[in-house]
Amino acid sequence: MTANPLANKHITLAVTGGIAAYKSCELVRLLVKAGASVQVVMSEAAARFVGPLTFETLSGRPVAIDQFSGTMPHLTLTRENTDLLLVAPATANILAKAANGIADDLASTLIAGRKCPLAVAPAMNDMMWTNAPNQRNIALLKQDGVHVFGPACGELACGVSGSGRMLEPEQIVACVRKVLTPQVLAGKKVLVTAGPTYEPIDPVRGITNLSSGKQGYAVAQAAFEAGAEVLLISGPTGIKAPYGVKLIKTDTALNMKAAVDEAASTADIFISVAAVADWHVLAPSTQKIKKSSYGEAQPMIMLEENPDILAETARCNPHLYCVGFAAETQNIESYAREKLERKGVSLVVGNNAGLALGADLNSVVFVSKSAAIAFEGISKLEVAQRLMNAIACNLGLCKGEIS
Ligand code: CTP
Repeated sequence: MTANPLANKHITLAVTGGIAAYKSCELVRLLVKAGASVQVVMSEAAARFVGPLTFETLSGRPVAIDQFSGTMPHLTLTRENTDLLLVAPATANILAKAANGIADDLASTLIAGRKCPLAVAPAMNDMMWTNAPNQRNIALLKQDGVHVFGPACGELACGVSGSGRMLEPEQIVACVRKVLTPQVLAGKKVLVTAGPTYEPIDPVRGITNLSSGKQGYAVAQAAFEAGAEVLLISGPTGIKAPYGVKLIKTDTALNMKAAVDEAASTADIFISVAAVADWHVLAPSTQKIKKSSYGEAQPMIMLEENPDILAETARCNPHLYCVGFAAETQNIESYAREKLERKGVSLVVGNNAGLALGADLNSVVFVSKSAAIAFEGISKLEVAQRLMNAIACNLGLCKGEIS
Protein backbone atom coordinates (compact mmCIF):
# COMPACT_ATOMS: atom_id res chain seq x y z
CA MET A 1 0.00 0.00 0.00
CA THR A 2 1.41 3.36 -0.94
CA ALA A 3 -0.04 6.82 -0.47
CA ASN A 4 1.53 7.76 -3.77
CA PRO A 5 0.35 5.82 -6.82
CA LEU A 6 2.90 7.73 -8.96
CA ALA A 7 5.97 6.45 -7.10
CA ASN A 8 8.28 4.52 -9.44
CA LYS A 9 5.80 4.66 -12.31
CA HIS A 10 6.96 5.31 -15.85
CA ILE A 11 4.93 7.64 -18.00
CA THR A 12 5.41 8.44 -21.66
CA LEU A 13 4.09 11.95 -22.25
CA ALA A 14 3.27 12.89 -25.84
CA VAL A 15 3.06 16.65 -26.27
CA THR A 16 1.19 17.68 -29.41
CA GLY A 17 0.95 21.07 -31.07
CA GLY A 18 -1.17 23.50 -29.09
CA ILE A 19 -0.45 26.56 -26.99
CA ALA A 20 -1.27 24.53 -23.87
CA ALA A 21 2.07 22.74 -24.49
CA TYR A 22 3.63 25.32 -22.16
CA LYS A 23 1.52 23.93 -19.30
CA SER A 24 2.92 20.47 -19.95
CA CYS A 25 6.33 21.70 -18.72
CA GLU A 26 4.77 22.14 -15.29
CA LEU A 27 3.01 18.79 -15.71
CA VAL A 28 6.38 17.05 -16.23
CA ARG A 29 7.79 18.82 -13.17
CA LEU A 30 4.86 17.68 -11.00
CA LEU A 31 5.00 14.08 -12.26
CA VAL A 32 8.76 13.87 -11.65
CA LYS A 33 8.38 15.50 -8.23
CA ALA A 34 5.76 12.87 -7.35
CA GLY A 35 8.27 10.10 -8.06
CA ALA A 36 7.42 9.12 -11.65
CA SER A 37 9.91 8.94 -14.50
CA VAL A 38 8.72 10.73 -17.62
CA GLN A 39 9.76 10.16 -21.24
CA VAL A 40 8.63 13.11 -23.35
CA VAL A 41 7.72 12.70 -27.01
CA MET A 42 6.89 15.82 -29.03
CA SER A 43 5.19 16.33 -32.34
CA GLU A 44 6.98 18.72 -34.70
CA ALA A 45 4.17 21.23 -34.19
CA ALA A 46 4.61 21.02 -30.40
CA ALA A 47 8.33 21.74 -30.77
CA ARG A 48 7.37 25.06 -32.41
CA PHE A 49 5.48 26.10 -29.27
CA VAL A 50 8.00 24.95 -26.62
CA GLY A 51 11.67 24.07 -27.09
CA PRO A 52 12.50 20.38 -26.53
CA LEU A 53 15.37 21.47 -24.27
CA THR A 54 12.82 22.64 -21.68
CA PHE A 55 11.26 19.17 -21.51
CA GLU A 56 14.65 17.51 -21.64
CA THR A 57 15.81 19.51 -18.63
CA LEU A 58 12.63 18.91 -16.63
CA SER A 59 12.43 15.17 -17.37
CA GLY A 60 16.17 14.48 -17.32
CA ARG A 61 15.80 12.46 -20.54
CA PRO A 62 16.30 13.25 -24.23
CA VAL A 63 13.06 14.19 -25.97
CA ALA A 64 11.95 12.01 -28.88
CA ILE A 65 10.54 13.78 -31.94
CA ASP A 66 11.66 11.82 -34.98
CA GLN A 67 10.00 8.45 -35.60
CA PHE A 68 12.86 7.36 -37.84
CA SER A 69 15.73 7.87 -35.39
CA GLY A 70 16.91 5.00 -33.15
CA THR A 71 15.58 1.45 -33.01
CA MET A 72 11.84 1.47 -33.53
CA PRO A 73 11.09 4.31 -31.09
CA HIS A 74 7.40 4.00 -32.01
CA LEU A 75 7.32 0.71 -30.11
CA THR A 76 10.08 0.91 -27.52
CA LEU A 77 8.96 4.22 -26.05
CA THR A 78 5.75 2.74 -24.71
CA ARG A 79 6.85 -0.83 -24.08
CA GLU A 80 9.71 -0.60 -21.63
CA ASN A 81 7.70 -0.92 -18.42
CA THR A 82 5.51 2.04 -19.35
CA ASP A 83 2.54 2.39 -17.02
CA LEU A 84 0.71 5.06 -19.00
CA LEU A 85 0.89 6.85 -22.33
CA LEU A 86 -0.45 10.36 -21.71
CA VAL A 87 -1.14 12.85 -24.50
CA ALA A 88 -1.19 16.42 -23.14
CA PRO A 89 -2.09 18.65 -24.77
CA ALA A 90 -4.04 16.46 -27.18
CA THR A 91 -5.05 18.36 -30.33
CA ALA A 92 -8.15 17.55 -32.39
CA ASN A 93 -5.74 16.13 -34.95
CA ILE A 94 -4.10 13.56 -32.64
CA LEU A 95 -7.50 12.61 -31.20
CA ALA A 96 -8.80 11.94 -34.72
CA LYS A 97 -5.75 9.79 -35.49
CA ALA A 98 -5.98 7.92 -32.18
CA ALA A 99 -9.70 7.22 -32.66
CA ASN A 100 -9.22 5.92 -36.17
CA GLY A 101 -5.92 4.05 -35.99
CA ILE A 102 -3.98 6.49 -38.16
CA ALA A 103 -0.24 6.30 -37.50
CA ASP A 104 1.83 8.81 -39.46
CA ASP A 105 4.18 10.42 -36.91
CA LEU A 106 5.89 9.37 -33.70
CA ALA A 107 3.03 10.26 -31.31
CA SER A 108 0.34 8.57 -33.41
CA THR A 109 2.45 5.44 -34.06
CA LEU A 110 3.13 5.21 -30.31
CA ILE A 111 -0.62 5.33 -29.68
CA ALA A 112 -1.37 2.73 -32.34
CA GLY A 113 1.34 0.31 -31.17
CA ARG A 114 1.08 0.72 -27.38
CA LYS A 115 0.59 -2.03 -24.82
CA CYS A 116 -0.10 0.32 -21.89
CA PRO A 117 -3.25 2.34 -21.04
CA LEU A 118 -3.78 5.60 -22.94
CA ALA A 119 -5.00 8.92 -21.50
CA VAL A 120 -5.60 12.16 -23.37
CA ALA A 121 -5.98 15.75 -22.12
CA PRO A 122 -7.70 17.58 -24.98
CA ALA A 123 -6.87 21.25 -25.60
CA MET A 124 -8.43 23.28 -28.39
CA ASN A 125 -10.74 26.11 -29.31
CA ASP A 126 -14.39 25.57 -28.30
CA MET A 127 -15.58 25.40 -31.94
CA MET A 128 -13.08 22.62 -32.60
CA TRP A 129 -14.03 20.83 -29.38
CA THR A 130 -17.77 20.86 -30.12
CA ASN A 131 -17.26 20.09 -33.81
CA ALA A 132 -19.25 16.91 -34.64
CA PRO A 133 -16.30 14.83 -35.96
CA ASN A 134 -14.26 15.68 -32.85
CA GLN A 135 -17.13 14.65 -30.57
CA ARG A 136 -17.49 11.40 -32.55
CA ASN A 137 -13.78 10.76 -32.07
CA ILE A 138 -14.00 11.41 -28.34
CA ALA A 139 -16.94 8.99 -28.08
CA LEU A 140 -14.93 6.36 -30.00
CA LEU A 141 -11.91 6.83 -27.75
CA LYS A 142 -14.04 6.44 -24.63
CA GLN A 143 -15.61 3.29 -26.12
CA ASP A 144 -12.09 1.94 -26.61
CA GLY A 145 -11.31 2.48 -22.91
CA VAL A 146 -9.16 5.58 -23.40
CA HIS A 147 -9.17 7.93 -20.38
CA VAL A 148 -10.26 11.42 -21.40
CA PHE A 149 -9.17 14.10 -18.90
CA GLY A 150 -11.34 17.20 -19.21
CA PRO A 151 -11.31 19.52 -21.03
CA ALA A 152 -12.37 22.36 -18.75
CA CYS A 153 -14.64 25.24 -19.57
CA GLY A 154 -12.89 28.59 -19.25
CA GLU A 155 -10.78 31.23 -20.94
CA LEU A 156 -9.28 30.03 -24.22
CA ALA A 157 -6.14 31.26 -25.99
CA CYS A 158 -8.27 32.93 -28.68
CA GLY A 159 -9.78 35.25 -26.06
CA VAL A 160 -13.25 33.71 -25.81
CA SER A 161 -14.54 31.62 -22.96
CA GLY A 162 -15.79 28.12 -23.69
CA SER A 163 -15.05 24.42 -23.40
CA GLY A 164 -11.79 23.06 -24.77
CA ARG A 165 -9.33 24.43 -22.23
CA MET A 166 -6.77 21.85 -21.09
CA LEU A 167 -7.01 20.90 -17.42
CA GLU A 168 -4.45 22.52 -15.15
CA PRO A 169 -1.30 20.44 -14.57
CA GLU A 170 -2.22 19.55 -10.98
CA GLN A 171 -5.68 18.43 -12.16
CA ILE A 172 -4.07 16.19 -14.79
CA VAL A 173 -1.84 14.74 -12.06
CA ALA A 174 -4.99 14.00 -10.00
CA CYS A 175 -6.48 12.18 -13.02
CA VAL A 176 -3.24 10.22 -13.56
CA ARG A 177 -3.22 9.18 -9.89
CA LYS A 178 -6.76 7.85 -10.36
CA VAL A 179 -5.83 5.91 -13.51
CA LEU A 180 -2.94 4.29 -11.61
CA THR A 181 -5.10 3.37 -8.57
CA PRO A 182 -7.08 0.10 -8.41
CA GLN A 183 -10.73 1.04 -9.02
CA VAL A 184 -12.12 -0.87 -6.04
CA LEU A 185 -15.07 1.53 -5.63
CA ALA A 186 -15.93 1.96 -9.32
CA GLY A 187 -19.60 2.79 -9.78
CA LYS A 188 -20.17 3.53 -6.07
CA LYS A 189 -21.56 6.81 -4.74
CA VAL A 190 -19.67 7.95 -1.66
CA LEU A 191 -20.88 10.67 0.68
CA VAL A 192 -18.27 12.21 2.99
CA THR A 193 -18.60 14.82 5.75
CA ALA A 194 -15.51 16.74 6.83
CA GLY A 195 -14.23 19.59 8.92
CA PRO A 196 -15.71 21.25 11.99
CA THR A 197 -19.20 22.66 12.33
CA TYR A 198 -19.81 26.25 13.40
CA GLU A 199 -22.59 27.09 15.83
CA PRO A 200 -23.32 30.82 15.95
CA ILE A 201 -23.76 32.70 19.23
CA ASP A 202 -24.47 35.94 17.39
CA PRO A 203 -23.61 37.20 13.87
CA VAL A 204 -19.88 37.60 14.71
CA ARG A 205 -19.21 34.89 17.30
CA GLY A 206 -19.63 31.16 17.40
CA ILE A 207 -18.62 27.79 18.81
CA THR A 208 -16.41 25.55 16.71
CA ASN A 209 -13.53 23.10 17.18
CA LEU A 210 -9.98 22.45 16.01
CA SER A 211 -10.78 20.07 13.14
CA SER A 212 -8.77 21.13 10.05
CA GLY A 213 -10.77 18.97 7.63
CA LYS A 214 -7.58 17.32 6.33
CA GLN A 215 -8.63 13.75 7.15
CA GLY A 216 -12.09 14.14 5.60
CA TYR A 217 -10.71 15.78 2.46
CA ALA A 218 -8.14 12.97 2.18
CA VAL A 219 -11.00 10.46 2.43
CA ALA A 220 -12.83 12.26 -0.39
CA GLN A 221 -9.65 12.26 -2.52
CA ALA A 222 -9.01 8.56 -1.90
CA ALA A 223 -12.63 7.68 -2.73
CA PHE A 224 -12.34 9.60 -6.04
CA GLU A 225 -9.03 7.89 -6.84
CA ALA A 226 -10.62 4.50 -6.06
CA GLY A 227 -13.23 5.17 -8.75
CA ALA A 228 -16.20 6.44 -6.72
CA GLU A 229 -18.48 9.39 -7.45
CA VAL A 230 -17.87 11.58 -4.41
CA LEU A 231 -19.96 14.24 -2.68
CA LEU A 232 -18.10 16.06 0.09
CA ILE A 233 -20.21 17.99 2.60
CA SER A 234 -17.84 20.20 4.52
CA GLY A 235 -17.95 22.55 7.46
CA PRO A 236 -15.75 25.68 7.32
CA THR A 237 -12.13 24.80 6.43
CA GLY A 238 -9.30 26.58 4.68
CA ILE A 239 -8.56 23.76 2.25
CA LYS A 240 -9.38 23.25 -1.40
CA ALA A 241 -11.67 20.41 -2.45
CA PRO A 242 -9.77 17.60 -4.17
CA TYR A 243 -10.12 17.46 -7.97
CA GLY A 244 -13.07 15.40 -9.14
CA VAL A 245 -15.02 15.74 -5.89
CA LYS A 246 -18.32 17.65 -5.69
CA LEU A 247 -18.26 20.02 -2.69
CA ILE A 248 -21.19 21.37 -0.68
CA LYS A 249 -20.16 23.88 1.99
CA THR A 250 -22.15 23.98 5.20
CA ASP A 251 -21.76 25.56 8.62
CA THR A 252 -23.97 24.36 11.49
CA ALA A 253 -24.60 20.73 12.45
CA LEU A 254 -28.27 21.16 11.52
CA ASN A 255 -27.39 22.48 8.06
CA MET A 256 -24.84 19.69 7.60
CA LYS A 257 -27.53 17.18 8.56
CA ALA A 258 -29.99 18.67 6.03
CA ALA A 259 -27.37 18.33 3.26
CA VAL A 260 -26.59 14.74 4.29
CA ASP A 261 -30.31 13.85 4.46
CA GLU A 262 -30.77 15.05 0.90
CA ALA A 263 -27.86 13.02 -0.46
CA ALA A 264 -28.06 9.86 1.65
CA SER A 265 -30.88 8.06 -0.16
CA THR A 266 -28.94 7.89 -3.44
CA ALA A 267 -25.50 7.17 -1.91
CA ASP A 268 -23.98 3.71 -1.36
CA ILE A 269 -21.42 4.58 1.30
CA PHE A 270 -21.44 7.29 3.99
CA ILE A 271 -18.18 8.22 5.69
CA SER A 272 -18.73 10.64 8.55
CA VAL A 273 -15.40 12.32 9.24
CA ALA A 274 -16.78 15.70 10.34
CA ALA A 275 -16.16 16.82 13.91
CA VAL A 276 -19.81 17.68 14.50
CA ALA A 277 -20.50 19.97 17.45
CA ASP A 278 -22.47 18.10 20.07
CA TRP A 279 -24.53 21.19 20.93
CA HIS A 280 -25.77 24.38 19.31
CA VAL A 281 -26.69 27.68 20.94
CA LEU A 282 -30.35 27.65 21.82
CA ALA A 283 -31.43 31.04 20.54
CA PRO A 284 -28.53 32.76 18.80
CA SER A 285 -28.84 36.53 18.82
CA THR A 286 -29.64 38.12 15.47
CA GLN A 287 -27.61 41.22 16.48
CA LYS A 288 -24.10 41.44 17.87
CA ILE A 289 -24.33 41.03 21.66
CA LYS A 290 -22.95 44.17 23.36
CA LYS A 291 -20.75 43.78 26.41
CA SER A 292 -22.50 46.75 27.98
CA SER A 293 -25.89 45.00 27.81
CA TYR A 294 -24.84 42.67 30.68
CA GLY A 295 -23.76 45.33 33.13
CA GLU A 296 -22.27 43.54 36.15
CA ALA A 297 -23.81 40.13 35.25
CA GLN A 298 -21.96 37.26 33.51
CA PRO A 299 -23.49 36.23 30.17
CA MET A 300 -25.00 32.74 29.98
CA ILE A 301 -25.21 30.65 26.83
CA MET A 302 -27.94 28.02 26.69
CA LEU A 303 -27.05 24.96 24.62
CA GLU A 304 -29.26 22.35 23.00
CA GLU A 305 -28.06 18.94 21.77
CA ASN A 306 -27.46 18.48 18.05
CA PRO A 307 -28.78 15.40 16.27
CA ASP A 308 -26.22 12.64 15.75
CA ILE A 309 -25.90 12.84 11.96
CA LEU A 310 -24.12 9.51 11.59
CA ALA A 311 -26.44 7.50 13.86
CA GLU A 312 -29.59 9.05 12.34
CA THR A 313 -28.37 8.56 8.78
CA ALA A 314 -27.48 4.90 9.47
CA ARG A 315 -30.89 4.30 11.09
CA CYS A 316 -32.92 5.93 8.30
CA ASN A 317 -30.89 4.45 5.40
CA PRO A 318 -30.38 0.73 5.99
CA HIS A 319 -29.02 0.39 2.43
CA LEU A 320 -26.02 2.61 3.28
CA TYR A 321 -22.62 1.25 4.32
CA CYS A 322 -21.77 3.67 7.14
CA VAL A 323 -18.36 4.52 8.57
CA GLY A 324 -17.65 6.74 11.58
CA PHE A 325 -14.51 8.36 12.90
CA ALA A 326 -14.07 8.32 16.68
CA ALA A 327 -11.95 11.16 17.99
CA GLU A 328 -10.58 9.99 21.33
CA THR A 329 -7.82 10.90 23.71
CA GLN A 330 -7.73 7.50 25.51
CA ASN A 331 -9.07 3.90 25.25
CA ILE A 332 -9.26 4.39 21.50
CA GLU A 333 -10.24 0.86 20.44
CA SER A 334 -12.83 0.27 23.16
CA TYR A 335 -14.47 3.67 22.67
CA ALA A 336 -14.48 3.09 18.90
CA ARG A 337 -16.20 -0.27 19.43
CA GLU A 338 -18.77 1.35 21.73
CA LYS A 339 -19.54 3.92 18.99
CA LEU A 340 -19.80 1.17 16.37
CA GLU A 341 -22.59 -0.43 18.43
CA ARG A 342 -24.26 2.79 19.60
CA LYS A 343 -24.41 4.34 16.12
CA GLY A 344 -25.28 1.09 14.30
CA VAL A 345 -22.53 1.42 11.68
CA SER A 346 -20.30 -1.09 9.89
CA LEU A 347 -16.89 0.38 10.63
CA VAL A 348 -15.41 2.95 13.00
CA VAL A 349 -11.97 4.48 12.60
CA GLY A 350 -10.68 5.28 16.07
CA ASN A 351 -8.04 7.97 16.10
CA ASN A 352 -6.01 9.82 18.64
CA ALA A 353 -7.57 13.28 18.55
CA GLY A 354 -4.72 14.78 20.55
CA LEU A 355 -2.20 13.80 17.88
CA ALA A 356 -4.37 14.03 14.77
CA LEU A 357 -5.97 17.47 15.07
CA GLY A 358 -4.47 19.69 12.37
CA ALA A 359 -1.51 17.31 11.80
CA ASP A 360 -0.58 15.48 8.59
CA LEU A 361 0.03 12.10 10.23
CA ASN A 362 -2.49 9.95 12.05
CA SER A 363 -2.50 6.76 14.13
CA VAL A 364 -5.72 4.84 13.76
CA VAL A 365 -7.49 1.60 14.49
CA PHE A 366 -10.18 0.26 12.13
CA VAL A 367 -12.85 -1.45 14.20
CA SER A 368 -15.57 -3.66 12.71
CA LYS A 369 -17.92 -6.10 14.46
CA SER A 370 -15.42 -8.93 14.23
CA ALA A 371 -11.98 -7.35 13.81
CA ALA A 372 -9.66 -4.52 14.73
CA ILE A 373 -6.55 -3.48 12.85
CA ALA A 374 -4.17 -0.68 13.84
CA PHE A 375 -1.95 1.61 11.74
CA GLU A 376 0.61 3.82 13.45
CA GLY A 377 1.97 7.16 12.18
CA ILE A 378 0.74 7.04 8.59
CA SER A 379 -0.35 10.00 6.50
CA LYS A 380 -4.00 10.99 6.47
CA LEU A 381 -4.11 10.11 2.77
CA GLU A 382 -2.78 6.63 3.53
CA VAL A 383 -5.40 6.22 6.28
CA ALA A 384 -7.97 7.16 3.64
CA GLN A 385 -6.58 4.74 1.05
CA ARG A 386 -6.51 1.89 3.55
CA LEU A 387 -10.06 2.77 4.52
CA MET A 388 -11.24 2.57 0.88
CA ASN A 389 -9.69 -0.90 0.63
CA ALA A 390 -11.25 -2.01 3.93
CA ILE A 391 -14.69 -0.78 2.79
CA ALA A 392 -14.30 -2.45 -0.62
CA CYS A 393 -13.29 -5.72 1.09
CA ASN A 394 -16.23 -5.58 3.47
CA LEU A 395 -18.56 -4.99 0.54
CA GLY A 396 -17.06 -8.01 -1.21
CA LEU A 397 -15.46 -5.87 -3.93
CA CYS A 398 -11.89 -6.99 -3.21
CA LYS A 399 -9.90 -9.32 -0.97
CA GLY A 400 -8.29 -7.93 2.17
CA GLU A 401 -7.48 -7.63 5.81
CA ILE A 402 -10.68 -6.58 7.63
CA SER A 403 -14.24 -7.81 7.51
N1 CTP B 1 -21.12 12.44 14.69
C1 CTP B 1 -22.21 12.91 14.02
N2 CTP B 1 -23.06 13.79 14.61
C2 CTP B 1 -22.85 14.21 15.86
C3 CTP B 1 -21.70 13.76 16.57
C4 CTP B 1 -20.86 12.88 15.95
O1 CTP B 1 -22.42 12.50 12.87
N3 CTP B 1 -23.69 15.07 16.41
C5 CTP B 1 -20.24 11.46 14.04
C6 CTP B 1 -18.85 11.97 13.71
O2 CTP B 1 -18.80 12.47 12.39
C7 CTP B 1 -18.01 10.71 13.83
C8 CTP B 1 -18.72 9.90 14.90
O3 CTP B 1 -20.04 10.40 14.94
O4 CTP B 1 -18.02 9.92 12.67
C9 CTP B 1 -18.09 9.97 16.26
O5 CTP B 1 -17.95 11.32 16.66
P1 CTP B 1 -17.36 11.68 18.08
O6 CTP B 1 -17.36 13.15 18.26
O7 CTP B 1 -16.08 10.91 18.25
O8 CTP B 1 -18.42 10.97 19.02
P2 CTP B 1 -19.68 11.47 19.82
O9 CTP B 1 -20.82 10.59 19.40
O10 CTP B 1 -19.87 12.92 19.68
O11 CTP B 1 -19.28 11.05 21.31
P3 CTP B 1 -18.25 11.78 22.32
O12 CTP B 1 -18.09 13.20 21.83
O13 CTP B 1 -18.93 11.66 23.63
O14 CTP B 1 -16.98 10.97 22.26
